[in-house]
Amino acid sequence: MRKKIAAANWKMNCTLQQGEQLLDGILGANIELKAHQQAIFAVPFPYLTMATAKLNGRKGYSIAAQNVYNKKSGAYTGEVSAEMLQSIQVPYCLVGHSERREYFSESNQMLAEKIDLLLANGITPIFCCGEPLSIREAGTQNSFVAKQLEESLFHLSAEVVATIVIAYEPIWAIGTGKTATADQAQEIHAYLRSVLAGKYGQAVADQIPVLYGGSVKGSNAKELFSCPDVDGGLVGGASLNAEEFATIISSLP
Ligand code: PGA
Repeated sequence: MRKKIAAANWKMNCTLQQGEQLLDGILGANIELKAHQQAIFAVPFPYLTMATAKLNGRKGYSIAAQNVYNKKSGAYTGEVSAEMLQSIQVPYCLVGHSERREYFSESNQMLAEKIDLLLANGITPIFCCGEPLSIREAGTQNSFVAKQLEESLFHLSAEVVATIVIAYEPIWAIGTGKTATADQAQEIHAYLRSVLAGKYGQAVADQIPVLYGGSVKGSNAKELFSCPDVDGGLVGGASLNAEEFATIISSLP
């Protein structure tokens, strides 16, 4: 069975103390995860070791970095390398979140480099893709996201691509309270899987979890996650509330 994942993206929120409280609240809900389920916390860099300690090896719970630099090492003041993340046992890293693409001009090519460095260090990329409102209104979202996959992932072998996670996040739904409907999510997730199948074959495409992101909350998670090609969610705002995120974790099929 494909992995089902509830991933929290804290973005640039929480002090250390607030982050500790938030994790305590979520872990306090004592949600036991089945073998195919995962809860992942993409916390700011300074809190990665705190979060690892809090999760304390609990089955199915892990951390993620929110970003990594696309160079191996060297004179890049303020940046964090894949090797550094590996050295503190970070298992996952977000790549290409739309906020990184927009505010930090991250190109598909740069994201391909980040993915290669992460994989070389044994870290699983959670590759984010998704279209802006203008593209959705023009009805060209499928070719837009297919290009994002092609330019950042299609240099990978089938064996390697089968290990990554994809998050589809329509930009018009991020932080806006405007969620894609379950039908809209299912439709484009199925399309993304067909693009992966076209390149790598159905068996590989069937192994890759494709998460939905964009105003996922406790009240809509179950419906979204019940779509056959939606394998969980990448959650911003609602992941900052312990009760909400615990509900979202509990909504994983
Ligand atoms: P949101 O953010 O849940 O606040 O819409 C999702 C994301 O950006 O990952």
